Amino acid sequence: MKNNSRKIKVLHCVGARPNFMKIAPIMQEMSKYPNNFSQILVHTGQHYDKEMSQSFFNDLGLPSPDIYLGVGSGTHAEQTGKVMIEFEKKGIKEKPDLVIVVGDVNSTLACALVASKLSIQVAHIEAGLRSFDRTMPEEINRILTDKISDFLFTTCEDANTNLLNEGISKDKIHFVGNVMIDSILKHIELAEKSNILIQLGLRTNGDINKYALITLHRPSNVDYKETLGGILNAMNELNNEIPVIFPAHPRTIKQIKKHKLHNRINYINNYSSYKPNSIKEKISIFPPLNYIDFISLMSNAAMVLTDSGGIQEETTILGIPCLTLRPNTERPITIKQGTNKLVGNDPQTILSEAHNIIENEVSQKKAPRYWDGKAAKRIVKVLTSK
Ligand code: UD1
Repeated sequence: MKNNSRKIKVLHCVGARPNFMKIAPIMQEMSKYPNNFSQILVHTGQHYDKEMSQSFFNDLGLPSPDIYLGVGSGTHAEQTGKVMIEFEKKGIKEKPDLVIVVGDVNSTLACALVASKLSIQVAHIEAGLRSFDRTMPEEINRILTDKISDFLFTTCEDANTNLLNEGISKDKIHFVGNVMIDSILKHIELAEKSNILIQLGLRTNGDINKYALITLHRPSNVDYKETLGGILNAMNELNNEIPVIFPAHPRTIKQIKKHKLHNRINYINNYSSYKPNSIKEKISIFPPLNYIDFISLMSNAAMVLTDSGGIQEETTILGIPCLTLRPNTERPITIKQGTNKLVGNDPQTILSEAHNIIENEVSQKKAPRYWDGKAAKRIVKVLTSK
């Protein structure tokens, strides 16, 4: 991005939990070039609970947001609309040269749309991922954000193909690798020092027990009583064999209460009060976990069960078997080259795939190209050389 007379003024936009670990390496890389960039961090407030937001700022060394929009929860239209209204005021006042958006959440699309209409250039980090499932709100956010972005930074070659197939000009597409992997590689050593395994009684005398880690929050898995109930039953069965640890998203906890499924689980507010051997008949559900402890739990697990996007990538780089409780993925490279397998949400299929992992050695696969901790460096290089 040429700006000969002065620094490039960048507005970084974050809103929800999976955004924070993507923006941190970019901000840190840009801060090495104070003569080239001035940076402003905008937090839309889509996620606002301490465990969903502030704890990630602390763990990732992110500065406090310069601008907090405080939009909170709502329907998709309410949330997207509120971000647009508030972000437009800031865009007009700050007049940045570039707005950087990451991932596929409602805040991503809202900020990109506002910037584009204010004639501010937009860079989309993690462009081109497609599940080809338009029932997912994230898929709509991805398609529309890509359409109006000026810089499309991709994590894998199939994303480049998707963008070209949608008629996006080749010179806007930059294959730079995966900033989420920059973050996990940077924090893995710190995660090795985490106490969470000891706290949960999963590490005794240096040995680590076999356990499974699960996360779940997609509407297709948690909004319907029968589906959510079926997954919880499968997890309870698995818990008879190995402890199942479930740090739950607030929306999942709400749905468990709404569907009156709380008798099928133990809700434990405090990680220290868990005992792996005493509660076998029901899985234990905990509040959301901070970034460092979560990496520790993920990297020592026998398997991870999830419907998250980013966790499919993180388990790939960690070499941990991952069962994705969805019928599709926008990250097929984690299946082709990583440890990921799509299993849907049928309880019997989930259980038989989990048994398969317990009983058989899972082959390690290789890391995808450019998932090497240097994606942010490549992004900054593109922005300073264009
Ligand atoms: C959002 C993203 C999803 C991402 C996920 C990660 C969209 C469309 N979806 O989904 O892509 O994988 O974040 O977490 O943007 N809530 C709280 N406290 C919070 C945040 C949310 O209680 O700090 C509750 C709210 O009641 C809200 C519900 O969780 O209604 C859902 O939050 P929302 O931001 O709408 O989407 P997510 O399901 O978190």
